[in-house]
Amino acid sequence: MASPAVKTPEAIVTLQDEHRYMNLLLGTLEEQVQASDLSTSADYFLVQDIVRYLHDYPDTVHHPTEDLLFDKLVRRKPDSEKDVARLRRDHDKLSENTAEILQLLNDAAEQPTPEAAAAVRLALDNFTGRLRRHMRFEESRMFPAAVQCLAKRDWRGIESRFNAVQDPLFGPAVDRDYRVLYEYFANRANSLSRSATRFGFLQLDSMIVGADAVESGIVDMIEMLQRHAESLAQESRETMRTAFNIRSPGAALAAPVRFAGFIGKTGIGIACDTADISIRTIKNVVRPLWNDSS
Ligand SMILES: [Fe+2]
Ligand SMILES: [Fe+2]
Repeated sequence: MASPAVKTPEAIVTLQDEHRYMNLLLGTLEEQVQASDLSTSADYFLVQDIVRYLHDYPDTVHHPTEDLLFDKLVRRKPDSEKDVARLRRDHDKLSENTAEILQLLNDAAEQPTPEAAAAVRLALDNFTGRLRRHMRFEESRMFPAAVQCLAKRDWRGIESRFNAVQDPLFGPAVDRDYRVLYEYFANRANSLSRSATRFGFLQLDSMIVGADAVESGIVDMIEMLQRHAESLAQESRETMRTAFNIRSPGAALAAPVRFAGFIGKTGIGIACDTADISIRTIKNVVRPLWNDSS
């Protein structure tokens, strides 16, 4: 009999989400330094924000949380010790890297010279390669091993760390320091730059796109109701004028009957328009999710 599927622990889901966010940021770093000659201070602003985030959150929460996970893994699976030691060294090195790159970026932004730009490019190139290799190894070897070997009480200790600190950019509240970076990604999402989501910015991106779709659906609905309200008011005025201004009793009676027919037809029209707007809104909300998972 096949063994039952092991449910992915919440801590692993969070770590994987954070890897996706980091991959998105690394991709953005590369885009920024490729698209710019880094000749002015402003060319460094976004890059500085990204590296500062990587130093503030992954270096202080993500990697130490993994260190805790690795401690527990070595206790349950002693033959993982060598890999764990290497990943711990990586964590130290990555934290040193981000601190050094921040310094390089500050210097380059203060005095943007071709030499400073070249030093930044080299340092970022080494850093992005190192972090990507590191994450790939964790995803392919260490996380699956942890899922297999760790006990429930191990996971509780790891998850409590995530509950203690919130991600200042991708968490439920965006920290003031990262508003510009958040806006940058929100604008990308708004312009439906789907390449961003391919690298893992699914949650925030879809949330923004979804909110847009709902908002535009509501705007369509209000416009449609206003349109029908105007035609109803006009038809009502016309019926009153006809009913009271004509002398023939038959024609006067026919006016409210015509109005009742108009109300019935309008009601059907409103129902059809409402259904159409609802379907369009749902499609617009779902489409980004569908595209990302395809
Ligand atoms: Fe790690
Ligand atoms: Fe990691």
